[in-house]
Amino acid sequence: MAQSTLITRIGELVTNEDGGWTALADAALVIEDGTVAWTGPAGHAPAADSVVDAGGRAVLPGFVDSHAHLVFAGERSAEFAARMAGRPYQAGGILTTVAATRAASDIALRANLRRLAAEMLGQGTTTFECKSGYGLTVADEARALALAAEITAEVTYLGAHVVPPEFAGDVPGYVDLVCGPMLDACAPYAKWIDVFCEDGAFGADEAAAVLAAGRARGLGPRIHANQLGPGPGIRVAAEAGAAAADHCTYVSQEDLDTIVSAPLVATLLPGAEFGTRHAYPDARRLLDAGATVALATDCNPGSSFTSSMAFCIALAVRDMRMTTQEAVWAATAGGAKALRRTDVGHLGVGARADLILLDAPSHAYLAYRPGVPLVAAVWQSGHPMTAS
Ligand code: NIG
Ligand code: FE
Repeated sequence: MAQSTLITRIGELVTNEDGGWTALADAALVIEDGTVAWTGPAGHAPAADSVVDAGGRAVLPGFVDSHAHLVFAGERSAEFAARMAGRPYQAGGILTTVAATRAASDIALRANLRRLAAEMLGQGTTTFECKSGYGLTVADEARALALAAEITAEVTYLGAHVVPPEFAGDVPGYVDLVCGPMLDACAPYAKWIDVFCEDGAFGADEAAAVLAAGRARGLGPRIHANQLGPGPGIRVAAEAGAAAADHCTYVSQEDLDTIVSAPLVATLLPGAEFGTRHAYPDARRLLDAGATVALATDCNPGSSFTSSMAFCIALAVRDMRMTTQEAVWAATAGGAKALRRTDVGHLGVGARADLILLDAPSHAYLAYRPGVPLVAAVWQSGHPMTAS
C-alpha cells in the first residue's frame, strides 16, 4: 500500500491552484504516490502514515527553472571581473566556453553538470531545463544533450548559440549544419530547440529557419530574444509558435503587443542583467499589459553564473518591481507554463509532489532575506531529498 505523508502546521502554503497565485494560512498537505493528495486547513487534515511538523514555516511548490545552460567546462570569472570594471558583455565570450567544453572528457562534463543540478536541488529547484550550445559540432552537441537527458526531461538543443570559429564567415553553412546533420544527431535526446537571435549570433531569417527545422522534427521552439538590444527575436518566437521568449530585456511596444497576443510567456533572467550590467527587464510593464512572466536563472558560466532561483526572485522584487507573490509565482507556475508543464509549479491535488519547506514563515522572505539559504527541505515526487 502507498505510504502517505502529512505535512502539517504550515504557516503559509503556496499552492498556485487554478493557474493563479493562491496561498493558505495554517494549512496542511498530504502526499501520496508521489503526488499531492490533499491540501486544506491544518485542523481538518486527514491521518497519514507519517507526519512532518512544519512548525509555522512556509511550504511552496519547488522552483521550475525553465532556462539553464549546464553542460560546459571551464569558467569565466576573469571576464566577469573585467565586466564589473567596465568592459561590455559580448556574445563572443561564449567561444571561450566552447573551447573548454570541446576539450573536456565526458566524465568531467557529467561531473560538472551533476554538481550544478545538485546545487539547484539543494536550493529548491525541482524541475530544470538544460541546453546544449557549448559544443557546436555534431558530436559535441549530441554529447551535451545525451548528458543532459540523463538528469532532466527538459532538454534543449541549442546548436544555434553562436557561429563556431571553423564556420567564421560562413553563417549559412553553419545554419545548414545545425538544421541538418547536427539536428539528426541531437533530436533523439531533445524536447526543445533554441536559438540565440541577436546581433553577433543569429538574425531573424536564420533563427526562423532553425526553429522551423526543429519543429519539423518534433522539437518545441524556444528562443533567446532581445537580450542585448532591440531585435526581431520576440516576433520570430511568436511566428514559430514558441512557448516563451527568453530574456525580453529590450521590448518595443510592438514586441509587448506580440507577447500578450501570441501569447508568449516572457521569461525574465535577471541573473544575466546582474552579470552583464544591462538594465533589468521591465517586468512591471509586461505584467501590467497582461503578459505571463516566468523567472529563470539562465545559469551559465558567462552571463549569469547563478543556480539560485531565490536570488532571481530577490532581484525581481527589488529591481524589477514585481510583488513578492508575482515573483514566486513566476519562479514556479510561470516556469511550468514556459515549459508547457501542468504537473509542476503548483500544489493542487494531483500535482507532482515537488515542494520546498522554507526556514521562514512566508514566501516573502525569499526577497526579504536576500542571499540567505532559506530552503530547509525539498521533496521531489514525494521523496524527501534533503533533511527537514
Ligand atoms: O543566455 N545569450 C546567450 N547565451 C547565454 C550566455 C552564454 C555565455 O555567455 O556563455 C545567455 O546569456
Ligand atoms: Fe541563456
